[in-house]
Amino acid sequence: MGKCHALAYNAVNGVFSDCPKLRLEMLCDINSDAGRQFAEAFGFKQFSTEWRDALTNPAVDIISITTPNGLHKEMALAALAAGKHVYCEKPLALTLADAGIMAVAARKSGLKTLVGYNYLYNPAILNAARLIKEGAIGRVYFFRGVNDEDYMADPALPHSWRCEVKKAGTGTLGDLAVHLVSLAHLLMGNITQLTAQTYIAHKNRLLEDHPDKTGTVDNEDIASAFVSFESGARGELSSSRSAWGRKNHLTFEIHGDAGMITFDQERMNELRLYSSHDKPEDQGFRIILTGPEHPPYASFIASRGHQLGFNDLKTMEVANLLRGLAGRDELYPDFDDALRIERVIHGMVRSSETGSSITL
Ligand SMILES: NC(=O)c1ccc[n+]([C@@H]2O[C@H](COP(=O)([O-])OP(=O)(O)OC[C@H]3O[C@@H](n4cnc5c(N)ncnc54)[C@H](O)[C@@H]3O)[C@@H](O)[C@H]2O)c1
Repeated sequence: MGKCHALAYNAVNGVFSDCPKLRLEMLCDINSDAGRQFAEAFGFKQFSTEWRDALTNPAVDIISITTPNGLHKEMALAALAAGKHVYCEKPLALTLADAGIMAVAARKSGLKTLVGYNYLYNPAILNAARLIKEGAIGRVYFFRGVNDEDYMADPALPHSWRCEVKKAGTGTLGDLAVHLVSLAHLLMGNITQLTAQTYIAHKNRLLEDHPDKTGTVDNEDIASAFVSFESGARGELSSSRSAWGRKNHLTFEIHGDAGMITFDQERMNELRLYSSHDKPEDQGFRIILTGPEHPPYASFIASRGHQLGFNDLKTMEVANLLRGLAGRDELYPDFDDALRIERVIHGMVRSSETGSSITL
């Protein structure tokens, strides 16, 4: 993810001429060789293996946090205390309490924050939001979303920090489902109530250093929930990190009384729309291919059909960051918005443990 941020920082002023000019002052990574090489390749002025050096560098205004989840809280609190704006990868923290502490610190600091929910910037998603607002599918009453990948589907994959609550926090919930919740919140409004189940598909994994021994997996591979939104609409969310064949299956369908919208991140330039207002003989899903009519596609390329990619979403996110810092855009999602997302995933863990419905 550090590479994605650096690529976006390098691209943003070329793609978006209205954004304040960015300077790359310092790259920090404990891995000295790789870090030094990246710092040079991406044009950072300085490199350090000690991340606290960025805090005392007066030329640094914004700190990107792209380290493993367990380091986000310490780094974000230190950056805010040093008077730096914070652009942090998701999830905010390992626990809901820690995410809450980060949101309070951000509010008190008066500094700006942004969290890496890059999928929200996709012009196809913004188009879905516009279509819903304009009533293209009528009264919206149901959201069904899935975020599946297969990076932990293989039972032979060794045990790692990702398998432990102590080091990773939640499993598929913090890694994948948070993105699904971010999309649900943008398109449907906030989730207010849920009932969930979680499941560990691979309960033990071989230890990399001692292949004759196994380590316990104590966070979930799979999670599913029934949810209610503040509007009264209902939904189903499901996420798995052990779903063979799914590479970035971040997908949803939104049901309304006059139609349906569907999306799949694996085909991120396409939105599918069904309208019950079409003549019966014409009814069917049509594909809206993202193009210059869907901002900010044209800032990347003028030609139709050439398509955007994941790293372009990160460039749009950094543009939001720069415009937000210049006071021209609302920074969304900031630490408070991200806390609302994390309440949902931790609510899902609690619901699964207690067997009860959770009001958020
Ligand atoms: N927004 C997205 O779509 C998305 C996608 C993937 C990952 N992420 C998030 O990005 C974060 C990083 O994930 P990743 O897959 O890039 O992890 P990674 O393990 O590939 O990279 C982490 C980097 O942090 C460095 N690091 C570790 N400890 C450090 C320390 N004490 N000081 C300085 N550097 C240190 C490592 O050397 C490494 O370069 C996670 O929070 C993850 O959830 C977000």
